[in-house]
Amino acid sequence: MKLHSVKELLAGDKLLQEVKVKGWIRTFRSNRFIALNDGSTINNIQCVVDFEKTPEDTLKQLTTGAAVSITGAIVESQGRGQNVEIQVSEIKILGKADPEEYPIQPKKHSLEFLREKAHLRIRTNTFSAVMRVRSALSFAVHQYFQKNDFYYVNTPIITGSDAEGAGEMFRVSTLDPKNPPLTNDKEIDYKEDFFGKETNLTVSGQLEAETYAMGLGKVYTFGPTFRAENSNTSRHLAEFWMIEPEVAFLDLDGNMDLAEDFIKYIIKYVLDNCQDDLAFLEQRLAQEEKSKPQAQRSEMTLTEKLHFVLDNNFKRVTYTEAIDILKNSKPNKKKKFNYIIEEWGADLQSEHERYLVEKHFKAPVILFDYPAKIKAFYMRLNEDGKTVRAMDILFPGIGEIVGGSQREERFDVLKEKIDAMGIDEKELWWYLELRKFGTATHSGFGLGFERLVQFATGMTNIRDVIPFPRSPQNAEF
Ligand code: 4AD
Ligand code: MG
Repeated sequence: MKLHSVKELLAGDKLLQEVKVKGWIRTFRSNRFIALNDGSTINNIQCVVDFEKTPEDTLKQLTTGAAVSITGAIVESQGRGQNVEIQVSEIKILGKADPEEYPIQPKKHSLEFLREKAHLRIRTNTFSAVMRVRSALSFAVHQYFQKNDFYYVNTPIITGSDAEGAGEMFRVSTLDPKNPPLTNDKEIDYKEDFFGKETNLTVSGQLEAETYAMGLGKVYTFGPTFRAENSNTSRHLAEFWMIEPEVAFLDLDGNMDLAEDFIKYIIKYVLDNCQDDLAFLEQRLAQEEKSKPQAQRSEMTLTEKLHFVLDNNFKRVTYTEAIDILKNSKPNKKKKFNYIIEEWGADLQSEHERYLVEKHFKAPVILFDYPAKIKAFYMRLNEDGKTVRAMDILFPGIGEIVGGSQREERFDVLKEKIDAMGIDEKELWWYLELRKFGTATHSGFGLGFERLVQFATGMTNIRDVIPFPRSPQNAEF
C-alpha cells in the first residue's frame, strides 16, 4: 500500500477506502483522537481510534512524540476544525516516547528552552513552519537565478585569503596545537601544515566568484560562510549561509536593480507558496508582540512586512545624505541612540539603519557611496577619492540584509588600496591578476540567508531560523 503524506490526504477531495500514513503524535485525547503530523504541512490529520478494538498496551503508548503507522479509511469529519479524518483500522507503534522524559509536550515552550533541544524542536509548529519557509526561500533563490541565466558556482570553503579583510576567521590546521613546528624566529611554521600555508574557513565566496563572473558572465554562489566575530546579537551567527551573485559588465545602478528585483521575487514566492505556514507564523508573531511593552511593538503584521518590501520602491540614498538625516534626527538630538552620530565617516549601527527605514523613509532603503575607510578593500573608488561604490540594503526590524558593491577593476588603484590597508599582496596575486587580463566593470552583492529567513518568518532571533546555530560559546549538536 502506498504511503500517503498528511498534506496529500488533507488536500485530496476523495474519500478513500484504505490509506496508510506514518507520523508523530502531537496529541492524543479522550482515548480516541490522535492529532498526527508528519512534517509535510503545518496541519495535523485527525485519526479516530476505536479504543474497544485497540489493545490496552497500544493505547498506553499513544503519547505525544511517539512515531506511529496508521491504516484506515478517509471519512468526512463530524467534528469541527477539519473536513476529513482517518477512521483507524490498524495502528502500529513504531517508536514510543515516554511522557516522563519526552521534553516537547503539548504546551507553550520558550524559544530559549527549545534552543537547548535543537534535535527535537523541529517537531513543533513554530520550527517546522520556519524550516519549510526556509526551504521554499532557498528554492526561490535558485529559481530566480536559473531563470535569469546565472550559473551556480561552488566556491571553496577552505581558503588562504581574507575576503573581507576584517581578520575574523577560523583557522584550519592539522598541526598539533601543543607542539607546533617552529621557524627560526619561534613563529609557528605553517609550511609544515596540511596545505603548506595558513588557511581558514571562508568569510565570503566573493573573490573566487569574481573570477568566474569574468568568464561565465553571470554567476551566483549559495553556501556556508564563517565569521569569528564575537557579536552576541540576535542578527549574527558564526556560521551562516550567504547568496552572492556576481556579474560582469554591471555597474552599481544595475547591481541595485538586480538586488531589488531578486528580493521581491523571493518574497513573492513565499507569499504565493507558503500560505499555511505564514498564517501560523503571523499569529505567532502577533502573540509575541502582545507580550512586549507598547513602545517596542511593531506596527506591522508579518504579511504587512512582506508587502512593505514587495510593494515599495527601495529608496536609494547616498551615505552622505543619510548622515545628514541622522544628525538632524530627533533620537540623535535627544541622545536616544546608543551611538550618537557626530560626523561624516561614522559607521552606521542597526539602530540608525532601522530609523532610516522605519521612521524616516518608511520603505526599504539602499544606502550607497560609503566612506572608503569603513568598507572593504575591493570596492571601486569614486572620483572624489574618499567614497566607494558600496551599497547596503536596509530592512525593517533587521537593518542590513545585503552588502555589495561595484568592484575596483583598475589594477593600480586596487594594488594601492591593498597595500594601504596592510593586506598581504602575495595572498591576493590571482585576484590582482584578474585586473591585468581582460579587466572590466563588474559588481555583486551578498545576501545573508538567515537574515532573509528571519525577515520572512518574523522570528526575532537568528538562532531560531537555522537548524543548529553556531555562536560564541555554542556548538552543541
Ligand atoms: O556585508 P558583508 O560582510 O558582505 C560580504 O561578505 C561581501 N563579500 C558580499 C558581496 O559583495 N559578495 O555580508 C553580506 C551579508 C550582510 O549584509 C548580512 O546580511 C550577512 O551577510 N551577514 C551575516 N549574517 C549572519 N551572521 C553574520 N555574522 C553575518 N555577517 C554578515
Ligand atoms: Mg556589510
